Amino acid sequence: MGEFLLQPAVTTCTGDLAREVLTSEGDKTTVGWPAHFDELFGKEAMILQKGEGHRALRALMQPAFTAEAVGGFVPRISEIAGSYLSSWAGQGGPVKGYDSLKQMAFDVILQVVLGKRCAPDEAREMLRLFTIWTQGLFTVLPYDLPFLAYGKATRARQALGVYTRAAIKAAREAAEAGEPPGGMLATMLAKDADGNGLSDQQCEDNIIGLLFAGHDTSTTTLSLILWRLANNPGAWQALRREQEALAAAEAAAGRGLDGQSLKGMVYTEAVIREAMRCNNVVGGMPRLAARDFELGGHRVEEGQTLLVPLTYLTKHDPRWGGDDEFRPERWLEGGKDAAQSWIMPFGAGNRYCIGAPLAMAEAKVFLALLARGYDFRVANAANVAWTTTPPMAVPKCGLPLTVVARS
Ligand code: HEM
Repeated sequence: MGEFLLQPAVTTCTGDLAREVLTSEGDKTTVGWPAHFDELFGKEAMILQKGEGHRALRALMQPAFTAEAVGGFVPRISEIAGSYLSSWAGQGGPVKGYDSLKQMAFDVILQVVLGKRCAPDEAREMLRLFTIWTQGLFTVLPYDLPFLAYGKATRARQALGVYTRAAIKAAREAAEAGEPPGGMLATMLAKDADGNGLSDQQCEDNIIGLLFAGHDTSTTTLSLILWRLANNPGAWQALRREQEALAAAEAAAGRGLDGQSLKGMVYTEAVIREAMRCNNVVGGMPRLAARDFELGGHRVEEGQTLLVPLTYLTKHDPRWGGDDEFRPERWLEGGKDAAQSWIMPFGAGNRYCIGAPLAMAEAKVFLALLARGYDFRVANAANVAWTTTPPMAVPKCGLPLTVVARS
């Protein structure tokens, strides 16, 4: 037994049992988030939907996440990441790496979802509200009192709702005026072939969900990658060689960094996957037993909480033999297919992360620009310690990061 938010939970101890739990939703399991998630996300959020409601909502949102749609966001991501890298290099000394990556990741998701440029003040205020909101999400005291984290979070959610509803109204008006779709929101507002589309409430609750799911996860992923690369100069040099070859090929073809470039980033992708293998980004997630059943020889009773501890599984599944060595090459040696069934940084089953292609694209673009144009250092990289506080791992030292433009 383990626990989730202080509730006892049957914990899956191998990747195969975890996969069984995640892929049996609707039969053996169902989603089981705490009741206060309804209030903070909004009842229409995808993570809270079940059964046919979940399937239909996911189908309506999927067109915003296809490889083609995500490839179309690469120039925007590249512009944002490029401007952050240049401003960090202009500091002439270390920046707070984790906080700076968080602001960048938030700018990326805000602009990709809403499809419009946001003023820096606006983005900073939204991130401030989200930080308060997140603190209320993972509280064990979900009481709506103004001095408790949860009370502050409900007020932050109301403010985010005002902002989000205004963005939806503007996007609907832009679509009616025949303006070309600029972001995920425009795609979400479009009707499918049968004339089905998202209501304003569905849009609002899912924008909140996407902004949340898309920035803390990416911040931790990018922080982990930089930390691992700082400690593994051989991998950093190999990544740089790949990026220089790709930049030369793009120049020869008269193109810039675009959606097509992502496909050639084989080693870069191996670096990202290896960083997520060594330290899972999402620590774990809960489910509820929908009926009595046997799980690995253990009797689970209907209504019991089940915990899929991704971090534990990544570290302890015997198939990696406790191998903590950062070695991206393992993903190029046939390990990828063998590993994918039980290394699950993006989850598994019908709730497999819908944003995974966007997360990979963002990390690839960031690493491409960094390796092509800059050198970097993480202060005291060998001794960075990570907290395991929900929702994501955070470097305790804040990851002091120095970025220097290459001459
Ligand atoms: C490296 C970055 C990311 C990681 C590690 C990650 C991880 C995950 C995991 C493990 C799940 C499954 C949760 C469960 O089964 O209960 C999930 C679901 C989800 N993710 Fe991500 N995610 C990342 C980035 C993103 C991004 C960029 C977006 C959106 C733009 C996103 C949107 C979502 C949504 C909406 C779900 C819920 C899917 C559903 O319930 O059907 N994620 N993610």
